[in-house]
Amino acid sequence: MFTGIWKISILLLIFLFIKVSGSFVGINIGTDISALPSASNIVSILQAHKIKHVRLFDADRQILASLANTGIEVMVGVPNDQLLRVGESRAAAADWVNRNVAAYLPGTNITYIAVGNEVLTSIPNAALVLVPAMQFLQSALLAANLNFQVKISSPQSMDMILKSFPPSTATFNSTWSPIMYNFLQFLKNTGSSFMLNAQPYYGYTRGNGIFPLEYALFRSFNPDNQIMDPNTLSTYLNMFDAMVDSAYYSMQELNFSGIPIIVTATGWPSSGGDDEPYANIDNALAYNNNLVLHVLNNSGTPSQPKSRINAYIHELFNENLIPGPLSEKNWGLFFPNGTTVYELNFEEDAGGGSVTSPMAGIFCVANNSADARDLKQGLDWACGPGGANCSAIQSGMPCYEDDNIVAVASYAFNDYYHRTQSSGGTCNFGHTAMITANDPSHGSCIFAGSMGLNSSTTRGTGFGPVSPINGIAKSCVLQLSQHLVLVMLLFLLLSI
Ligand SMILES: *[C@@H]1O[C@H](CO)[C@@H](O)[C@H](O)[C@H]1NC(C)=O
Ligand SMILES: *[C@@H]1O[C@H](CO)[C@@H](O)[C@H](O)[C@H]1NC(C)=O
Ligand SMILES: *[C@@H]1O[C@H](CO)[C@@H](O)[C@H](O)[C@H]1NC(C)=O
Ligand SMILES: *[C@@H]1O[C@H](CO)[C@@H](O)[C@H](O)[C@H]1NC(C)=O
Ligand SMILES: *[C@@H]1O[C@H](CO)[C@@H](O)[C@H](O)[C@H]1NC(C)=O
Ligand SMILES: *[C@@H]1O[C@H](CO)[C@@H](O)[C@H](O)[C@H]1NC(C)=O
Ligand SMILES: *[C@@H]1O[C@H](CO)[C@@H](O)[C@H](O)[C@H]1NC(C)=O
Ligand SMILES: *[C@@H]1O[C@H](CO)[C@@H](O)[C@H](O)[C@H]1NC(C)=O
Repeated sequence: MFTGIWKISILLLIFLFIKVSGSFVGINIGTDISALPSASNIVSILQAHKIKHVRLFDADRQILASLANTGIEVMVGVPNDQLLRVGESRAAAADWVNRNVAAYLPGTNITYIAVGNEVLTSIPNAALVLVPAMQFLQSALLAANLNFQVKISSPQSMDMILKSFPPSTATFNSTWSPIMYNFLQFLKNTGSSFMLNAQPYYGYTRGNGIFPLEYALFRSFNPDNQIMDPNTLSTYLNMFDAMVDSAYYSMQELNFSGIPIIVTATGWPSSGGDDEPYANIDNALAYNNNLVLHVLNNSGTPSQPKSRINAYIHELFNENLIPGPLSEKNWGLFFPNGTTVYELNFEEDAGGGSVTSPMAGIFCVANNSADARDLKQGLDWACGPGGANCSAIQSGMPCYEDDNIVAVASYAFNDYYHRTQSSGGTCNFGHTAMITANDPSHGSCIFAGSMGLNSSTTRGTGFGPVSPINGIAKSCVLQLSQHLVLVMLLFLLLSI
């Protein structure tokens, strides 16, 4: 019997030491690209970056087939142009489920169907078929015995939410109240989630300067400009939380509570036209990096601190065929040829402490193929007018390297970048610098933003959860371990 207890204790210890990660960050895969990579290349990119959750806007055959047996969880989409057909005929909905979902299960782990995208705001004429389409699809899942495997919802735009600040007074546009009521009732009955496309990029750029940029980018900002909801006295540290809370309060106004929110699209464009100055790599990197830290930290929102938020970054590739302003084509983390637009760092909450600096794990280093004279010029500027602390690269100091201009310039560039990024400093230095997630620290030469080389050997590099244990499994594990503790206590009491 004691060996039994010891086995259980060892199991418990193992559970305690496995890094469990509740929330996840996935990624959207849009395919409006003239040179779309092959499905197998797409999957290779996902795997190389340890991405474990993807959202497709349709049900692309090749991509779905390639995702089989990869452990990647998939949300498929009924495109807006197929909504009418699915919403007007039970048979068409059943056919859709058979061809686009059932056909790939269980190999491809499809767990959600997103029915249309921003239907009420982008194709209001189809509004009346939205909930029927969801119901028909649900019946088809039920008939195929897939209703536990696959949930159904429909991504809503922030444009559905009126007066989104302060969040406590937010409401859905009442034009749609009857539909929203049925929609929420459906989510509640089926145990599904509210899908929200939350884009602080638009919140900021359309906000006419009401909110500081730092607030949109999850950065700290002048505490004199506290952003507070006057009704709840909650302080909002970032626009993402305020947007999510505005959706919770809008549901509450229709008397719905307890419906979780999945953010089905959020991101920041990395380049734009001349009139889109905020669409740049520094902001895109800051937004997405801080989003990952925020979500993986399991932080809820001020109104729902205990409800975890999962989010999908928009998006994997730049989509050159998307119409509209230049920024619209540049939301991707990758160019279609597979090279990164910028390297997104991803860090789990190491060792139980909370995630510290929002810039932790990001480094600005010298490009080693840049001209040495240009690097020297950048170095002198960074250590002089730039105000970097260059004492560590002086003779006799830990980062001093007599004959290595790339190494010392990297130290100075990085120090400058970390000091000034929040006030607009960039990683450029006449195009001789670049951003990386690889920590250049060595020995006792520690770069700004280093999370400690000696403890970070297991750092992840993708954006999926590091641990294979997902939210549902984790809560089971926790419940299980609570039970085991009780059982152990009982055993101990009995054996005395
Ligand atoms: C599919 O994903 C769900 C949710 O994360 C998970 O519980 C399930 O084990 C996965 N199924 C397979 C076959 O990987
Ligand atoms: C609410 O939605 C209706 C229908 O799309 C639209 O005409 C109206 O302008 C919206 N109301 C507001 C305040 O945006
Ligand atoms: C919500 O519940 C309150 C109190 O029960 C009620 O007064 C109100 O009419 C309800 N609102 C809706 C939209 O059902
Ligand atoms: C992570 O969560 C802790 C505790 O909930 C919080 O104090 C900290 O600010 C959070 N960090 C980030 C980056 O959100
Ligand atoms: C990939 O595409 C980008 C953008 O068009 C380009 O800058 C980069 O050089 C390309 N990389 C390769 C390896 O072709
Ligand atoms: C590094 O510099 C070389 C030569 O100037 C250039 O071709 C390359 O694109 C640069 N790399 C980055 C990541 O900026
Ligand atoms: C500059 O860096 C050195 C070590 O690298 C540190 O001891 C010193 O306090 C720093 N000075 C300032 C003003 O931050
Ligand atoms: C890491 O280990 C090296 C060698 O043991 C030591 O010199 C250095 O200070 C350590 N760095 C940190 C951040 O603990």
